[in-house]
Amino acid sequence: DVPQGTFYRFCLEPVQGVPLMKPIVNDWKRVESFQARPDDFLIATYPKAGTTWMQEIIDLVLHEGDVEKTKRAPTHVRFPFLEICSPPPVPSGIDVLEKTPSPRLIKTHLPYLLVPKSFWEQNCKVIYVARNAKDNVVSYYYFDQMNKTQPDPGPWETYIEKFLRGDVAWGSWFDHVIGWWEAKAKHPILYIFYEDMKEDPKREIRKVMTFLEKNLSEDVLEKVVQHTSFKVMKENPMANYSSMPDYIMDHSSSPFMRKGEVGDWKNQFTDAQRKMFDEEYAKKMQGTDLNFKVQI
Ligand code: A3P
Repeated sequence: DVPQGTFYRFCLEPVQGVPLMKPIVNDWKRVESFQARPDDFLIATYPKAGTTWMQEIIDLVLHEGDVEKTKRAPTHVRFPFLEICSPPPVPSGIDVLEKTPSPRLIKTHLPYLLVPKSFWEQNCKVIYVARNAKDNVVSYYYFDQMNKTQPDPGPWETYIEKFLRGDVAWGSWFDHVIGWWEAKAKHPILYIFYEDMKEDPKREIRKVMTFLEKNLSEDVLEKVVQHTSFKVMKENPMANYSSMPDYIMDHSSSPFMRKGEVGDWKNQFTDAQRKMFDEEYAKKMQGTDLNFKVQI
């Protein structure tokens, strides 16, 4: 057993070519054979694409705008994290999920090809959130500094290269966003963009509402928009990860609710880095009709 307070930055090992943190790899057989139930609801994202924001929206839509109900527990308790498996005291996602009554809300960062097959056999609904690569890599860089279980990000210059190679936890951003984009032709997947949520949150929340088969009044929709704004969530202890012990998440190095903007990458990239990134991006996105906004 690992005593409380001694946490590691885990190393990565590939599962079917996708680098995942060692404890997940150790428990992979259980993840792969996880039994989904038909009324399970999955929120899937590449890390730092806006998972927590969408989780708050989903929970509030399901509870028809009842803010008190969404304050029943922190995000990571309301939505167990399927593949996560850390030393105690953090429980494994699967242990928690096996004891969770239906309907379960489940979070995953797995690329489409690694999602347990039972989710598709049971025809489970999924919401996928994607965020443009430049803001995503900046957000991930700061997160890898503050989350003490993630591999050390090292300096920014080399981090961008690791990101482009897919040599970060949960692998290539490109494979992730494209894999899920193509999967939506086969399964009930609602694909939402972070940039669209910033541009017109009410429009995107309405899509979530329809997908979840809920019918909320304009007033309630307005309330959901307001309660899930960056400002309000940053102050909400049940939505800002302040309940995580600081030996796991060190908010003093970078807060979890950091900036919440589209286009913040411009404050991080040099001109040369932007050029190099754009060239690699064009090569890797060739042949897909998936397009992102990089500013709004
Ligand atoms: P930044 O680091 O760019 O600020 P995830 O939940 O997938 O880990 O994503 C975290 C990112 O989403 C962070 O981005 C965080 O600030 C942003 N975020 C969280 N809640 C938000 C909200 N209500 N509105 C806009 N961005 C939000």
